Amino acid sequence: MHCSAAWLSQFNFVQLCTMFYKKVLQEDIACFESILGAPFVLTDVEHLERCASDHTEDLKYMPEVVLQPGTTEEVSIIMKYCNSEQIAVTPRGAGTGLSGGALPVSGGIVLDMKRFNKILNVDSRNFQVTTEPGVITQELQEHLKAMGLFYPPDPASKGSCFIGGNVSENSGGPRAVKYGVVKDYVLNLEIVLPSGDVVWTGANVLKNATGYNLTQLIVGSEGTLGIITKIVLRLIPAVKHDLLMLVPFRSAVQACEAVNAIFLAGYTPSALEFMERDAIEWSMRYVQSAGISLPDDIAAHLLIEVDGNYMDELYRDAEAISQIVQRYDIDEILFADSHEQKQMLWTLRRKVGEAVKSNSVYKEEDTVVPRAELPELLTIIKELGREFGFHSVCYGHAGDGNLHVNIVKAGMSDEDWKTKLPIGIRRLFMEVVRLGGTISGEHGIGLVQKEFMDIAFSNTQMQLMKQIKQVFDPKGILNPGKIFQ
Ligand code: LAC
Ligand code: ZN
Repeated sequence: MHCSAAWLSQFNFVQLCTMFYKKVLQEDIACFESILGAPFVLTDVEHLERCASDHTEDLKYMPEVVLQPGTTEEVSIIMKYCNSEQIAVTPRGAGTGLSGGALPVSGGIVLDMKRFNKILNVDSRNFQVTTEPGVITQELQEHLKAMGLFYPPDPASKGSCFIGGNVSENSGGPRAVKYGVVKDYVLNLEIVLPSGDVVWTGANVLKNATGYNLTQLIVGSEGTLGIITKIVLRLIPAVKHDLLMLVPFRSAVQACEAVNAIFLAGYTPSALEFMERDAIEWSMRYVQSAGISLPDDIAAHLLIEVDGNYMDELYRDAEAISQIVQRYDIDEILFADSHEQKQMLWTLRRKVGEAVKSNSVYKEEDTVVPRAELPELLTIIKELGREFGFHSVCYGHAGDGNLHVNIVKAGMSDEDWKTKLPIGIRRLFMEVVRLGGTISGEHGIGLVQKEFMDIAFSNTQMQLMKQIKQVFDPKGILNPGKIFQ
């Protein structure tokens, strides 16, 4: 009952916002054209449709106009104008988000940042890069790698997502387990406030104990506080070698238990990913790869990578890890022995999300618990599935205790999907919090998880966040309808 009320209030909220914001008029369009030039003010259906959805479920909200600014100054003039006219602005990167952060739920403007696509300066003396936000993450990584530099965060969508979106969502990815998430690399940001003011949030230094940490406030703020126009990232030296192995388990819970055993033995892999049987099977079908052999009794896999500069050390670590996993009921370990085989295994892992999406209507939860609680989390998910009648495909960054729970509609009736499932999801999140975890590890809250924020935060905590929003964006024009609004 509680949940369906929450869903209803989300609907009402969108209705309210649509009334609250000014509709974009012809005179506004003329003004935007004078700021940006007509080619960068888009009102045709094709562009509106492209910016109406992201990778979140099958949600769709049409903007009234798409603007493609190319400079900080242009963003500043647009923001100032929209703030005085009370026009909603939704910033957008590559649209690969999984919580609906880029959806223009109140119509208005989508601020498409794709023209901010330049890597501005690589400061190799100081191991830093200054980049615009519309650079594709993998392209940034490859550019840096060619110079012997390493920017580790690697979300599954790294081939298409923008670095600006990664900063806005505080993304993670497989390597986070050893190297940390995006927040661990952001040193400084140039942002445009809704008022049009342009500020840098910090300094290009590795240590900073000067005042409040505005940089980290913006990281993960999902485009609700300011528009990111420049990003300064910390880098590390490139790592020379890696080894990859795939371990098949006959019990999924045992696979989760093995994760912590590896860390307790003193090893920190550069990736430690979990995939339930369905995840890898559906991914193989999706990418049409023979991939790996998958005997009937295999319930889950761990994909384990170790990296470093000395092969002999990596072989020793891999050997030690394989001894640890052999304490469990496993089949033969596959050691990837060529670049192609590594690529194939990583492709299977990275495509799981898309594979599930192509298979069925689904909802994706981004649960995260302290790593040692992972086996219990998985057990609870399956119990809740039995109680609420849903099938889940679980996979993700087990080394971080971050499990993506894809709930597929499959045989569930429309009625149960709408009314019963939200209660099941609420129960799941309550269990996650009971285990010491929280409701999103790396996908953000955006639109689709905001009804559950009360599980993770008290009223006082929510008030603090709302007051911060008020300071940055007193008229509430920036990315309305997200996180808690
Ligand atoms: C992944 C995305 C969904 O880990 O976060 O594949
Ligand atoms: Zn992930």
